[in-house]
Amino acid sequence: DYTPTPTDKFSFGLWTVGFRGNDPFGPATRPELDAVRAVERLSDLGAWGVTFHDDDLVPFGTEGAERDRIVSRFRSAVESTGMVVPMVTTNLFGHPVFKDGALTANDREVRRFALRKMLRNVELAAELGARTFVAWGGREGAESDAAIDVRAALDRYKEGIDLVCEFIRERGYDLRVALEPKPNEPRGDILLPTVGHALSFIEQLEHPEMVGVNPEVGHEQMAGLNFTHGIAQALWSGKLFHLDLNGQHGAKYDQDLRFGAGDVKSAFFTVDLLESAGYAGPRHFDFKPLRTDMDEGVWASAAGCMRNYLILKDRAAAFRADPRVQQALQDSRVSELSRPTAADGEKPEELLNSDEGFDPEASAERSMHYEKLDQLALEHLMGVQ
Ligand code: GCO
Ligand code: MN
Ligand code: MN
Ligand code: MN
Repeated sequence: DYTPTPTDKFSFGLWTVGFRGNDPFGPATRPELDAVRAVERLSDLGAWGVTFHDDDLVPFGTEGAERDRIVSRFRSAVESTGMVVPMVTTNLFGHPVFKDGALTANDREVRRFALRKMLRNVELAAELGARTFVAWGGREGAESDAAIDVRAALDRYKEGIDLVCEFIRERGYDLRVALEPKPNEPRGDILLPTVGHALSFIEQLEHPEMVGVNPEVGHEQMAGLNFTHGIAQALWSGKLFHLDLNGQHGAKYDQDLRFGAGDVKSAFFTVDLLESAGYAGPRHFDFKPLRTDMDEGVWASAAGCMRNYLILKDRAAAFRADPRVQQALQDSRVSELSRPTAADGEKPEELLNSDEGFDPEASAERSMHYEKLDQLALEHLMGVQ
């Protein structure tokens, strides 16, 4: 009946349900949400985990006893509800000091400050048992190409992530880093704009095995890309450490709709992939409840994310189990792609000289039957069996 339980591994950022509706054209429409209430409500709704930016929990600049008090109050709520903190991330974009970026700010003092903030947050992440440390470089970018030396910025980005990894290793923490790509917003152009850019960047790091990606549905779609293909490549590379599920209507501003809203067909194939590939990580939601709605809408939105995931999981399983689909997949030769192109041990020279009497004209006349296959997917998605 699509009721989530902790075994579904659904997690939420404190900043999602805590989003107060402020946008570039107007201020907050909702009051502040207490972190403990967020943990309790999410737990009641069937969530498994809660994540946060350092500043979501401990306001920027809060030190000493007050900081400890806030952390321990949060920790008690997490423990008493049986929730976990699978991921922690650092706010390196909110305070005006980060207006030109953090790890790649032109101002070296800002870069050093940003790294101290990050390292301190690594300590907090480890203290709370998180296994993933997300790094979203929201302000790492530019509006003018005159204002940034992109190659130097990538050197500094690498240096920063390398230092974080070195720190994790020296402390012996069981923590991996996940880079979150985004093409733009708040900067005109952001570094590591897509999953592909991030995967290639990771290969240049000192400890590539410690670093993966945290792709977000809307971010790939803002770049006009296929999110499902992006996470499929991350899975193929062993790099899907975490992910941000939400909804987006095509290439426009970052909408952060609840999961399932936006491109629902893409959401169907995303869930189909995650479930069939055996992805074992958190199903993390990064969305913003609409600013038109008050408290009840916040929780309706959070519940909707989980319910939509479970509905899509059910629909995807029905799609895979349908004998008509299995026949259609065969007619479309989908599984033939898993068969290596060369024969066992065949050399390119042998392949070059192989003559199988292949007739390109006759082959070109074969239909792939994708219309029928895709229609079956759509009908399962729409609930028509
Ligand atoms: C955004 C991003 C953020 C990050 C978060 C984690 O577009 O606002 O998705 O929500 O996921 O900051 O670091
Ligand atoms: Mn995100
Ligand atoms: Mn987003
Ligand atoms: Mn977001």
